[in-house]
Amino acid sequence: MAHIAERESELPDSIIDLLIEVVSERPDVLSLGAGVPDFDPPAAITAALKRIGGEAGHYSSPGGIPALREAIARKVRKDNHIRADPGQVIVTCGSQEGILVAAACTLDAGEQALIPDPGFLGYLPVAELFTAAPVPYVLREEHGFEPDVDAMRRQVDPRKTKLLIINSPANPTGAVFRRSALEDIADLAIEHDLTILSDEAYEKIVYDGAKHVSIASLNGMAGRTITLQTFSKSYAMGGYRLGYAIAPPGLADAMKKARVYTTVSAPTISQLLGLTALKLPQRHITAMVREYDRRRKLIVRRLNELDLRTLMPKGAFYAFAGIQHLGVPSQRFALDLLKAKVAVVPGREFGSAGEGYIRCSYATKYGRIEAALDRMERFLARYRPRRAQSS
Ligand SMILES: Cc1ncc(COP(=O)(O)O)c(C=O)c1O
Repeated sequence: MAHIAERESELPDSIIDLLIEVVSERPDVLSLGAGVPDFDPPAAITAALKRIGGEAGHYSSPGGIPALREAIARKVRKDNHIRADPGQVIVTCGSQEGILVAAACTLDAGEQALIPDPGFLGYLPVAELFTAAPVPYVLREEHGFEPDVDAMRRQVDPRKTKLLIINSPANPTGAVFRRSALEDIADLAIEHDLTILSDEAYEKIVYDGAKHVSIASLNGMAGRTITLQTFSKSYAMGGYRLGYAIAPPGLADAMKKARVYTTVSAPTISQLLGLTALKLPQRHITAMVREYDRRRKLIVRRLNELDLRTLMPKGAFYAFAGIQHLGVPSQRFALDLLKAKVAVVPGREFGSAGEGYIRCSYATKYGRIEAALDRMERFLARYRPRRAQSS
């Protein structure tokens, strides 16, 4: 019989696989589950794809094609105030590969990584793959899902904690960390000599005048921060698998070395398209964000009207709705709701502090959100009396 490593069996089973399968096979289900933009990539990307085609048949260097690395270095300097030269840029197959390579280069066996809870479900398994220990820090609704840095400080083991992962704008909560919170995190990192992994996948998707601040732009932080950004959200290019990391020089070299053993280089065709994307005017991002904003207001209003308490997210495209008062585990709730033909992601998927919530993505058309909420309203009406009978 084929041998399967124990490590694999310890990786968490995700209900997301089931949700993706159900949604792709059952068009009758309205999905608020997906974490991918429903927009098409800009037309200029599709046009460039035809033009570039045959020129992209070779590997690039592990760090990425030089023209793209230069364009990224200019982009992060202008948009994020991060001073980096092109040698500090590592182009990756999406930020998911960036998380993997960053963990490989910063965590030895038995060392610890502080990870957000609730937080993106890619962090915990990646730390575990390298036999490091993920240590969840709780993001509480009463703090607007921003970190409590004093509580984080108490979780630091001075010998073992090496990496601190932050994600703002955040999946699944939609929080955008204020500069003051990032300054407190920066102080903690300096105090305990921690490396920071700042996942900025949703950097361009912010509302109500919220400002995305890259922690690497704060005083003294560029030398200890890996910044991850991606083309998947801002340019709706998830299928092209293109992201990048900016790291301090020595660490950037280590990451380039490590990524030779993951994918060698990001697909050359995607890199050439990334170069096209970075030259585009910001108009299409602005238009996309405006539409997300309209949907955000709709979904948050309707969820609150349904008594599912939901903070107004300041970024990304997720509403994180409270179901604590219903007294059912979030996974049970999501599976029952699926029978009513609406897909959402149970909060438990994002860590134990996500229990009591569901994540509703509004990266789906306005009309479908309205229809999904109508179905949820009917579902909840049926659900409540049933609960009353059983209690
Ligand atoms: C917070 C966060 N980080 C990283 C990713 C991975 O994105 P990609 O690998 O497509 O760049 C996602 C995808 O949903 C995400 O939500």
